[in-house]
Amino acid sequence: MKFFADTADIDAIAELNDIGFVDGVTTNPSLILKSGRDILEVTKEICALIKGPVSAEVVATEADDMIAEGRKLAKIAENIAVKVPLTWSGLKACKTLSDEGTMVNVTLCFSANQALLAAKAGATFISPFVGRLDDVNLDGMDLIDDIRTIYDNYLFKTEIIVASVRSVNHVTQSALIGADVVTAPPNVLKKLTDHPLTENGLKAFMADWAKTGQQIL
Ligand code: E4P
Repeated sequence: MKFFADTADIDAIAELNDIGFVDGVTTNPSLILKSGRDILEVTKEICALIKGPVSAEVVATEADDMIAEGRKLAKIAENIAVKVPLTWSGLKACKTLSDEGTMVNVTLCFSANQALLAAKAGATFISPFVGRLDDVNLDGMDLIDDIRTIYDNYLFKTEIIVASVRSVNHVTQSALIGADVVTAPPNVLKKLTDHPLTENGLKAFMADWAKTGQQIL
């Protein structure tokens, strides 16, 4: 399973990338706002740092304008995936941009039928938002399970990006279901190493090591 960093914070991406943890990056208008950066500039920097797909989202609502924005974003670098919302206009833009050879990430997916439509429109990626479903008392991971089944039933190549990830449990469940990608904020990715038994075990080893009076270096 691939890990994408869900952020436009270049320093956070660089830190995770140093340990080979970043297979791609996803951004959205809210994350661009949070970064305080210009979308074209920061996206170019991210694309130079990360070899894998970097999603940059259109903000138009009509298909023709989405396509124009998508073409401009796609010119930033070869690893751009243009992100479009799961609307009829977004699906139309998806089809056109995909036919032109541009990677497309269809975002704001909340149902299996939406995911089916995105695959038929040629999406490279589908982004179901699990955390936002959990927020309204639905089980976001059930949706991932359903999409995995549907895509496997019909051999769709569209990759499932589990998005709106809030916890390390979302990551485990995604891997068990067989999602292709999890995109998570840096703080969630960093928590993946955490385990109290690891922490306690290390403390005990360090205490015993100190008693040996030895040094390795
Ligand atoms: C994914 O592509 C989105 O950028 C993101 O996962 C949304 O997450 P949120 O629901 O925490 O805003």
